[in-house]
Amino acid sequence: MLSSKHILLIVAGGIAAYKSLDLIRKLRERGARVTPVLTRAGEEFVTPLSVSALAGHEVHRDLFDLTKEAEMGHIQLSRSADLLVVAPGTADLMAKMAQGRADDLASTLLLATDTPVLVAPSMNVRMWDHRATQRNIATLKNDGVSFVGPNEGDMACGEYGPGRMAEPLEIVAAIENAFGEGPLKGKRILVTSGPTHEPIDPVRYIANRSSGAQGSAIGGALARLGAEVIFVTGPADVAPPEGVNVVNVQSAAEMLNAVENALPVDAGVFAAAVADWRVASESNSKIKKQNGKLPVLEFAENPDILAKVSQMKDARPSLVVGFAAETDDVIANATAKRKRKGCDWIVANDVSPETGIMGGAENDVLLITETGSEDWPRMGKAAVAEKLALKIAEALSA
Ligand code: CTP
Repeated sequence: MLSSKHILLIVAGGIAAYKSLDLIRKLRERGARVTPVLTRAGEEFVTPLSVSALAGHEVHRDLFDLTKEAEMGHIQLSRSADLLVVAPGTADLMAKMAQGRADDLASTLLLATDTPVLVAPSMNVRMWDHRATQRNIATLKNDGVSFVGPNEGDMACGEYGPGRMAEPLEIVAAIENAFGEGPLKGKRILVTSGPTHEPIDPVRYIANRSSGAQGSAIGGALARLGAEVIFVTGPADVAPPEGVNVVNVQSAAEMLNAVENALPVDAGVFAAAVADWRVASESNSKIKKQNGKLPVLEFAENPDILAKVSQMKDARPSLVVGFAAETDDVIANATAKRKRKGCDWIVANDVSPETGIMGGAENDVLLITETGSEDWPRMGKAAVAEKLALKIAEALSA
């Protein structure tokens, strides 16, 4: 709940401004007081009337409004709130923030404030990827500004990629988290992620194609809902998310050890692509070529971390979520896997090469529970993570 919280919401000029109307509604439903500010460009996307009607408060638009300056100057306006939220945060407004410019009401408020600031960026994928934008974001993060999103997906401009503003519920969760009020506040959640590397000798190993993207997105989404996340990761391509406790491991044996050390937890999400086999006896020195004679590697089965934790007597988390990467009969295989391993939910996906899911940006999942299966539409891995994190929050609060 956000009762008694005062949020100054700056709506800048992006197509996602329409989602900010829903954001205002959701914030007020949770008891927050919303003071809206609309930039000139923002007015091109949503009208001052709809913003003020939903906020139940007059919308601020001008820097030089003498009446308002006499009653309540922009300095005071920027400081009376508990949190400044910029949604959508355009590339232009973020550039101004990074430079400390103050040439309109929104940028002046952002410069004059001593209140925490949360930005929900929204822009075209190329603008997001541009070095100037990334530089500005790094500067803003360094200045203590927090971010939610952007998400990956289809854009209004017809392109695909990161740049879509986070959904209103995700922004609400980030706001609640900023106040230490996230739905997972006080919950400890373990996430495994990435591939494992099983050593053959000091220079070679067995690996798989997991990038760690889905696990990383899940860890970040859970942390944004207020959970204390222990993020046990193999050597992934994707960086671990912000706001989690990272435990780096290489092999399945090391991952099991790190998982056992992290217990007890309220929930465990096992997104790692753990190698099923390791080389039975790793060579301590580099295996050399031997005049055409081929080395023979003997394999041993790795411990099944998910099954082990699911079947624990004392330390079993109240919710255990596994993943199933299948290439055939996804529902049947994943349903059987849920039973066999003893976990509560299985997030199943089809990783046949033609789906482009393994190592790709999107995912197409089925959530298998005790009561049946839910087919989620194909969406970005960040969106899957947000949806799963909200579901976990719901389950843990039931
Ligand atoms: N998993 C695990 N430890 C292992 C292998 C898998 O914790 N040694 C977890 C994964 O993190 C994932 C789930 O088990 O959550 C499913 O893994 P998957 O490799 O699809 O299942 P397998 O048990 O390997 O079954 P199969 O080989 O029949 O597909």
